[in-house]
Amino acid sequence: MKVSVVGSGYVGSVTAACLAELGHQVICIDIDEERINKINSGKSPIWEKGLDELIQKHAGNNLKATSDYESAVLDSDISFICVGTPSDDYGNINLSIVKAASKSLGHAIGNKDGYHVVVVKSTVVPETTENFVTPILEESSGKQAGRDFGVSMNPEFLREGKAVYDFMNPDRIVIGALDKHSGDFVSQLYDKVECQNEIVRTNSRTAEMIKYTNNSFLATKISFSNEIGNICKKLGIDTYEVMKVVGMDFRISPYFLNSGAGFGGSCFPKDVRALTGKSKQIGYEPILLDAVIRVNENQPHIMVNLLEEKIGNLENKTIAVLGLAFKNGTDDIRESRSIPAIADLIYKGAEIKAYDPQANGNMKKIFNNITYCDRAEDALHNADACLVMTDWDEFKELDSEFGMMRNKIVIDGRRVVPVRNLEQEIDYVGICW
Ligand SMILES: NC(=O)c1ccc[n+]([C@@H]2O[C@H](COP(=O)([O-])OP(=O)(O)OC[C@H]3O[C@@H](n4cnc5c(N)ncnc54)[C@H](O)[C@@H]3O)[C@@H](O)[C@H]2O)c1
Repeated sequence: MKVSVVGSGYVGSVTAACLAELGHQVICIDIDEERINKINSGKSPIWEKGLDELIQKHAGNNLKATSDYESAVLDSDISFICVGTPSDDYGNINLSIVKAASKSLGHAIGNKDGYHVVVVKSTVVPETTENFVTPILEESSGKQAGRDFGVSMNPEFLREGKAVYDFMNPDRIVIGALDKHSGDFVSQLYDKVECQNEIVRTNSRTAEMIKYTNNSFLATKISFSNEIGNICKKLGIDTYEVMKVVGMDFRISPYFLNSGAGFGGSCFPKDVRALTGKSKQIGYEPILLDAVIRVNENQPHIMVNLLEEKIGNLENKTIAVLGLAFKNGTDDIRESRSIPAIADLIYKGAEIKAYDPQANGNMKKIFNNITYCDRAEDALHNADACLVMTDWDEFKELDSEFGMMRNKIVIDGRRVVPVRNLEQEIDYVGICW
């Protein structure tokens, strides 16, 4: 099939590259010329395992990029909206980019003969596709949804760091369609994908709610585990020992029970806040979801407090921060727990030496007044203490490097420091254990 994908960020570029790999003709549409040029020259606009290879393989063949909505819509049968849905100043969803993309698609559809389907893949709060996207498409195209063009909502569940694998091997595909014809159209695109379950067909607001419920539940599991971890720490209990056994209960499962510095990324914090905002807007006070966010916001400050308990005033102390990305396997720092931790350290007068295998460049855009190191050992050299914020595998191998921290404090927010050999040499503190 011929597909256009609006937005070439994490979701858009993975969607485009994977659809090309499945044999479809794909055109990426973006307003960022740098991203367009990267894709056209066979490079990934973001760092994601396996993506560079796919884009290199298909660019110039069945994958190209443009800023021109008109030509892309004319040259495709179906358009995915994969633009960002950030939080506004109050934490509610900001739909301005989705609305702008819908308007541009609508104009292009107005100038096209023949049927076209628009699929919302961005994470949007329930009722967005029917109350905003569809009316905007109708108004800007002068055509009628359901008759002249189709509309669907197809949420994306990929995990950054494993995004290509997840797209190709989904545990579920959800298609919330305005009408059966639009849904069938979207379903065909996934014909060659081995989905572990049947494709779920529903309406758009249910599809939207499935995505929010999914992310909110996982975020709840993490904040719950962090709260239990905080209690365990005060009682001298190893929360990992507790959660290992709790996770043996098949009703609970062992996943997302690791206590630590909290969740970040472009999805969980923003999506829980957006659902909270939507909920309040319709007159329901979401007590549990509010608490999920509060627990999460507290975790990085708990790490800094533990540090102060150990070394006192942080003024002019040099603190190594290992890990800036919100999790391993990505250069994405959005809502990373390292951001509030670093801000807190700077506020308290500490000097920061930071290291991340992928995310130094992105973090420089937020903090340009700290030192960035090319290797973990450079960050640890002469540091008074260290905070570990991301669960990169390479941090598990840093035996000799942590040896430089003899008699110094290491606060581990992810349970990755190889304490087995180092217990006697460093003052190791787990955030929740
Ligand atoms: N990142 C994830 O892991 C993930 C997973 C599932 C769902 N989502 C959801 O998918 C959506 C996209 O997320 P992302 O992380 O890929 O976003 P992103 O910010 O990385 O990328 C968005 C892209 O859209 C482009 N863009 C902005 N305005 C545009 C316009 N008017 N026309 C064309 N392009 C435009 C930007 O230049 C950028 O390249 C969000 O709603 C997000 O919540 C993200």
